[in-house]
Amino acid sequence: MQTYKLNSGYEMPLLGLGTWKADNPKELRNALKEAVNIGYRHIDCAKIYENEKVIGKALNELFQEGIIKREEIFITSKLWCDSHAKTDVIRSINSTLRDLQLEYLDLYLIHWPVCFTKGTIFPSRTEEFISLENLPISKTWKGMERAVEEGLVRSIGVSNFSIKKLEELDKTATIKPAVNQVESHPFLQQTKLLEYCNSKNIAMTAYSPLGSRDRAGFVKSENEPSLLDNSIIKKIAEKHEATPAQILIKWQLQRNVIVIPKSVNAGRLKQNFEAQFVELDNEDMAQIATLDRHFRYINGTFFTPKGSGYTLHNLWDED
Ligand code: A2P
Repeated sequence: MQTYKLNSGYEMPLLGLGTWKADNPKELRNALKEAVNIGYRHIDCAKIYENEKVIGKALNELFQEGIIKREEIFITSKLWCDSHAKTDVIRSINSTLRDLQLEYLDLYLIHWPVCFTKGTIFPSRTEEFISLENLPISKTWKGMERAVEEGLVRSIGVSNFSIKKLEELDKTATIKPAVNQVESHPFLQQTKLLEYCNSKNIAMTAYSPLGSRDRAGFVKSENEPSLLDNSIIKKIAEKHEATPAQILIKWQLQRNVIVIPKSVNAGRLKQNFEAQFVELDNEDMAQIATLDRHFRYINGTFFTPKGSGYTLHNLWDED
């Protein structure tokens, strides 16, 4: 398995398993065991996915059964928006470590550059938002750095950060972010952001690489384009006797982007893992490059209700 050498010195497997929306405990437990048996050595988690206890139990069983050792698997988790205060960062990591039954995380990310009042899972009132002026990322980052010093986490990073926000963070960070996890796929290639990250030795991870078709209705918009049904992707898949999902995954690996497709289905887990063995040629890469349309499946409207202080403009730093 190809790995990415992070700026912290640790190696991160380029292909990982996404767990967002894996909310059926039995299905998730089986999927994790299947994934590890297939060869996955990187699991992407987050507190807000509300499934870390199930993941922790499955991991513990895998360790107990001697199937893998802790140090052989890379585990990421993410800080939720209600815990950006410095002391809450440590509390939050400790809670995740308990749920995952781990002594350390390989990577911990600030999930969104958005703050909520403590205890707010999803704001129902605008008063439950806190502006980044009042609780700046630089303060949250101090908590993240403390977590590294305390040995709770090996590498730290961010998610959903623009170049502007990365530059801002760079001004005060003692430990530089190792990773920026963002939505990416052929309709949202993030070329500029990737170039910036490469220039700063920050790894980029692509979430929703297959278009996250299993999202709940409230985070979906009408007439979304389909990656898996796209004619160019399908043609390239036919050419390589592969599946569209494998093309979408391998395209990221070939750009040296870490990718975390989610699946709880044994056949699709295997298929996605085997994407690494497909070889895309220059013509395939050039054709996929034409598909970019800056389309976000996770467009952020959820974080930007009127009166919250957050807008799509100040969330993404795009016009
Ligand atoms: P399932 O979990 O039943 O396999 P994303 O990673 O972009 O969030 O996408 C996840 C969605 O894509 C889930 O609905 C998942 O369903 C589905 N999926 C995962 N792997 C494949 C695949 N190889 N082919 C088609 N759909 C897939």
